[in-house]
Amino acid sequence: MPILEASGIRKQFGGVVALAGADFSLDAGAVHALIGSNGCGKSTLCKIIAGSVAADAGTIRLDGNPVSFSDPQEAAAAGIGVFYQELSLVRPMTVAENIYLGREPRMRTGLLDRDALRSQAENALEQFRSVIGTGVHPDARVADLSADQSQLIEILKVLAANPRIIILDEATAALDRNQVDAVFHRIRALKADGCAIIFITHRMDEVFEIADRVTVMRNGLTVLSQPIGQTSHDEIVAAMVGDVMPPARRERKHVPAQETALEVEQLSAAKLAGVSFKARRGEILGLGGLHGQGQSALLRALFGALPLKAGSIQVDGKRLAPKGPRTVMRRSIAYVSGDRARHGVMAIRPIFENLVISLLSRERRVVVQTERLERETRPFIERLKLKFSSLQATVAELSGGNQQKVVLARWLATHPSVLLLDDPTKGIDIQTKEDLYSTMDELCSQGVCILLHSSDDEELLGISDRVLVFNGGRIVAELTGEQRNRQALYEAAYATAPAAA
Ligand SMILES: Nc1ncnc2c1ncn2[C@@H]1O[C@H](COP(=O)(O)OP(=O)(O)O)[C@@H](O)[C@H]1O
Ligand SMILES: [Mg+2]
Repeated sequence: MPILEASGIRKQFGGVVALAGADFSLDAGAVHALIGSNGCGKSTLCKIIAGSVAADAGTIRLDGNPVSFSDPQEAAAAGIGVFYQELSLVRPMTVAENIYLGREPRMRTGLLDRDALRSQAENALEQFRSVIGTGVHPDARVADLSADQSQLIEILKVLAANPRIIILDEATAALDRNQVDAVFHRIRALKADGCAIIFITHRMDEVFEIADRVTVMRNGLTVLSQPIGQTSHDEIVAAMVGDVMPPARRERKHVPAQETALEVEQLSAAKLAGVSFKARRGEILGLGGLHGQGQSALLRALFGALPLKAGSIQVDGKRLAPKGPRTVMRRSIAYVSGDRARHGVMAIRPIFENLVISLLSRERRVVVQTERLERETRPFIERLKLKFSSLQATVAELSGGNQQKVVLARWLATHPSVLLLDDPTKGIDIQTKEDLYSTMDELCSQGVCILLHSSDDEELLGISDRVLVFNGGRIVAELTGEQRNRQALYEAAYATAPAAA
């Protein structure tokens, strides 16, 4: 009998169907890999099992008995521990406080036993001592840790509760090979103790190394479930891709020109290993692959926000040395990120200020000429169909989609010749996406060169003229014409990454 069984699980978020009747079955003493492209419903399924999201329909059985957890505490009490993809650590608190949050050792008086907390944390850290790096001690603040260190702490936090069912949702995404080895060492020990583990990853080599069974999801459904010895890399990719129907290609007005707008040679930086390509005027060049394989790093490097180690960049035939965003902006390069909170809007400032900041920082004028600035930004507000009450209202009052339009309008007002879009439609509504796509088409008709990183594969394949696939910091494939399909994209993206330089 499986220790955990989920059947017919459905979940809808507004108009989005996240799960359309998914099934999943987990055995004790086994590692069960769950794999599938972005947005297929893996995290939602895990959150439903863990009681942090309520299902619309379906049943979950634990040891054969139907259960319905109304919150994560109930699931935790039943022995379910979850590593959340978005991490659940409290950044201002220490490593020790985070690992034992809610189960801190207490003295008889009921007061927190700081010494015991520290020594327990010291013991827990010991498991990852050789791979976690320096500076990680029980009293270190989580806010001061790097992404990989935080992931290891989140793993320790999950294990500290001694769960018998462990869900690891992309727990190895930021880890290097040695760190993955250390985590796998722990997983094997837990398995030997009879724990059951749901292991979500995008790395196919990890699946074949650690899993006893693999389940593939696609569009909210489980489409394949096999013991690992009875399946293959190709069968898994085929299940992820589904029908080999090419995605609907959008109608477009623009035709890429022959002239090269951007030429990059042997560019290396953190997460980038010798990247070379050319992009033409009036072209949308897509950057695809699994999350964090160098797509975003490339855009940030071109914008001067990530230091280069080697390589050269030419814009319109002239060398560009990206020494910080300001020098890059003067060369008519603009950067728009979908991570609005971090790289985009100043939410508490008026829309107007948000709109003109790029113009201002490029000009370095002392006097702010309000009327002129308004005149220069107005056409872009109109073209993007920005909906707002007044330019003096704060950006916080706008919807996410309209906030993104503010960020884009701000950059379009600088008349860029190269536009770097870093997952620009993340979390925005369909209408805003349509407005952005048609604006991009129009910009290309005017000769703008667009580099588009998108985590939405349909979008990437549907609107790019060409797609470069990134894997392990390198470009591993270039998809043109009919090759712009999910099959070709996934084959390149899920291939074992070439060895790092
Ligand atoms: N809280 C939420 N609100 C709205 N949509 C959501 C929410 N959580 C997930 N979704 C949507 O549900 C779908 C499945 O998401 P998710 O389970 O996170 O996929 P995966 O983990 O496989 O990448 C996606 O289309 C995602 O955008
Ligand atoms: Mg997920």
